[in-house]
Amino acid sequence: MSGANTPFSASGRSTPLHLRDIVHDVIRHYRHEKDSEAHRIFRQSAGHKPKGAVPQTVNPDEETVPGIVHPGSTGVIYCSDRAMANGFNYASSHEWANLGQGAPEVGQIPEAPPRPTSIPLPEDSLEYAPTTGVKALREAVANLYNQQYRQGKLSQYTYENVCIVPGGRSGLSRVAAVVGDVYCSYQIPDYTAYDQVLSAFKRLVPVPTALDAENKYRLDVEQIKKDIRTQGLEVILASNPRNPTGQVIEGEELKTLVDTARENSVTLILDEFYSWYMYPDDEKDFGRSVSSAEFIDNVNQDPVIIVNGLTKSGSFLDGGANHPLQLAAIPLLDPERVLQEKIALQKHFKHKRDHVLKRLEELGLKVEVPPVATFYIWLNLEHLPAPLNNGLTFFEELLMEKTIVIPGIFFDINPSHRRNLFHSPCHCFVRLSFGPPLEDLDKGLDAIGRVLKKAKKEGGSAFGHSYKKSIDGIHQLDKHI
Ligand SMILES: Cc1ncc(COP(=O)(O)O)c(C=O)c1O
Repeated sequence: MSGANTPFSASGRSTPLHLRDIVHDVIRHYRHEKDSEAHRIFRQSAGHKPKGAVPQTVNPDEETVPGIVHPGSTGVIYCSDRAMANGFNYASSHEWANLGQGAPEVGQIPEAPPRPTSIPLPEDSLEYAPTTGVKALREAVANLYNQQYRQGKLSQYTYENVCIVPGGRSGLSRVAAVVGDVYCSYQIPDYTAYDQVLSAFKRLVPVPTALDAENKYRLDVEQIKKDIRTQGLEVILASNPRNPTGQVIEGEELKTLVDTARENSVTLILDEFYSWYMYPDDEKDFGRSVSSAEFIDNVNQDPVIIVNGLTKSGSFLDGGANHPLQLAAIPLLDPERVLQEKIALQKHFKHKRDHVLKRLEELGLKVEVPPVATFYIWLNLEHLPAPLNNGLTFFEELLMEKTIVIPGIFFDINPSHRRNLFHSPCHCFVRLSFGPPLEDLDKGLDAIGRVLKKAKKEGGSAFGHSYKKSIDGIHQLDKHI
């Protein structure tokens, strides 16, 4: 439903005060997504209808090709579509602050090794690469892991322990495609792509655990042990460091997780894509990164699959990673270069994180569980006046200020999509990325400041309505969460 059809249309902004108070009172007591314009827009987008009837009901409007069901948009595609409906496009993107995209800035970082600007294309690289990857690159990965995490250990990685894939999602899909009928543990919130993996590969029976702020959104190893005993878990899927909360388990805790997997014959699929994005307090710790590889006893026997990557590219099942890019990646894995890169990026990103946290605190949005890793801030909005206190409405309001964040519900890994969005544990959160350059972060923070100022001045009734309609058919922005 568009804003013009609702009682809270644009004209609502000049409604007399007492009526606005009544309107606000209504908004404040919203308990269901049906009451909220931002949520109705979300549900109207293809693939976002509630599912959960068994057998699954297919919406005939969405089933344009018989038997093919719209998979729904991943959060970034939905958010990009909504941003375009609000005037965003790449030509004018400099006016916008994109704190939504799950990708770090791409320019040169001070003191980091120079970024490659071109890659050679030897003739034999135009052939398919082996599906497991180019041997020299597999060797470079094994060497780097041995150098970083396994010095002095008897059991060392060789190229045979490594498979090169086109990206995180395709790696996860390959793993999921060969898993048998098992109970698979996952956590909420986590990387949105797990939603698609767990929905597409039905042999994995998903077993959720909701993480909470009291536990700093840490993977709860004791809970996992209990679930193995009581629920018969056979596979555990988790990101560490964690998207979107920026938390990480390391040291003894990570060791216990790896030991638990080994001792109980449970396969641990650990997504360590953010292993370099760590922000130590102590100067001497810059350059350190985290991996379960440090705690593996026998690299050929322990049931741990590590998913990591140089960058973010590709989608779903595929025929192997791009050949010339694999060749170009080999020198990037030189341990000396990696160390220089890690130190530079950690210093640079730590500065950006601290800057954003400080500015958020000045705006009255103190982050309860500040990120120690990744480049994300999991921001709780529950103390804001309704309806700004839910992630989807906050997102829509920021779009009007040319700023993109990601509503928390996208990180509610919920493969059968059964719940009222208002009941999601991620409902009152947004994820802010401090991946972009500092000036973009400031632009976004200024926008948040404007929205909060307006809330102070006009109250909650100024929000939650008059949103622009989506532009249909714009799904080319396959960016990454
Ligand atoms: C936890 C996690 N793993 C992996 C990836 C990268 O996946 P891909 O290479 O498919 O973009 C991301 C990207 O946002 C991520 O958040």
